[in-house]
Amino acid sequence: MEHRLFGRTGLSVPAVGVGTWQTFDVRGAAADAPRSVVDAAFEEGATMFDSSFMYGEAERVLGRALAGRRERAIVATKVWTPDDAEATRQIEAALRYFGGRVDVYQVHNLVAWRRRVEQLERLKMRGAVNAIGATHYSAHAFDELRRVMDDPRVAAVQVPYNPHEREVEEVILPAAADLGMGVIIMRPFGQGSLVRRSPSSDALAPLAPFGVSTWPQALLKWILSDPRCHVAIPATSNPMHMHENAAAGNPPWFGPEERTYVAKLANDL
Ligand SMILES: NC(=O)c1ccc[n+]([C@@H]2O[C@H](COP(=O)([O-])OP(=O)(O)OC[C@H]3O[C@@H](n4cnc5c(N)ncnc54)[C@H](OP(=O)(O)O)[C@@H]3O)[C@@H](O)[C@H]2O)c1
Repeated sequence: MEHRLFGRTGLSVPAVGVGTWQTFDVRGAAADAPRSVVDAAFEEGATMFDSSFMYGEAERVLGRALAGRRERAIVATKVWTPDDAEATRQIEAALRYFGGRVDVYQVHNLVAWRRRVEQLERLKMRGAVNAIGATHYSAHAFDELRRVMDDPRVAAVQVPYNPHEREVEEVILPAAADLGMGVIIMRPFGQGSLVRRSPSSDALAPLAPFGVSTWPQALLKWILSDPRCHVAIPATSNPMHMHENAAAGNPPWFGPEERTYVAKLANDL
């Protein structure tokens, strides 16, 4: 797995990480599935995990699955509330789950972002947080996200990017590159909509020299071949899918021709 400098945060991140929305929001015996996904991720070196207070049980389940190997993981999670006291409770819980430290603490959906950034900055001073990030899932919020990016305390962004959602190409990715920010790509498979069908194996054949043998790998490599994107975080409940996805996190990367070809395949699905 290729590791990349995560913008000016100084962190080094694997090109493929793991999302936890829905897939890690499970209780009891069902938590065995996320653990086997985490096992597969470690086998592949895909050791960056993204969660949020908003994802139900996901932070707790991820924290348990990381027991004994937390130090080898990069944990990105999110605080999500306009209420200061509630934010403190969310952050204290996350710090308990993740061994007293969160590598990338993000303001989820920009909720009360000025107050949350101040709060996270205090944690950063204490060494409990390495980098502060901001996330939004909707292009409608990108004007505000762009303003947040001008706050020098915010060193990373998380945004959607896939061949069907390319709005970040207009302002967010160019600005992130100019500002030297870390970039996490959420929703690489459009919440699964892009991988429900696949182009034929003949259509994928020209991508074989790039180590791509499946459609999910083509989509991940399409993202990761844009040098402004550091890590994509597909979610999966299936360890075999985790192995498959991680294989897209290695060079050779696509050039402009292959990226155009994959975008066309996605549009023709
Ligand atoms: N969606 C959002 O608005 C949002 C917002 C903020 C942050 N995020 C973060 O971004 C992460 C990723 O986004 P997402 O969860 O919305 O969706 P996604 O990663 O685009 O898609 C997840 C879906 O893809 C399927 N999948 C994964 N690998 C596959 C493979 N190799 N072959 C076939 N199917 C595969 C999964 O099913 P299987 O379980 O069967 O593999 C799952 O249904 C989230 O988990 C979260 O951490 C998302």
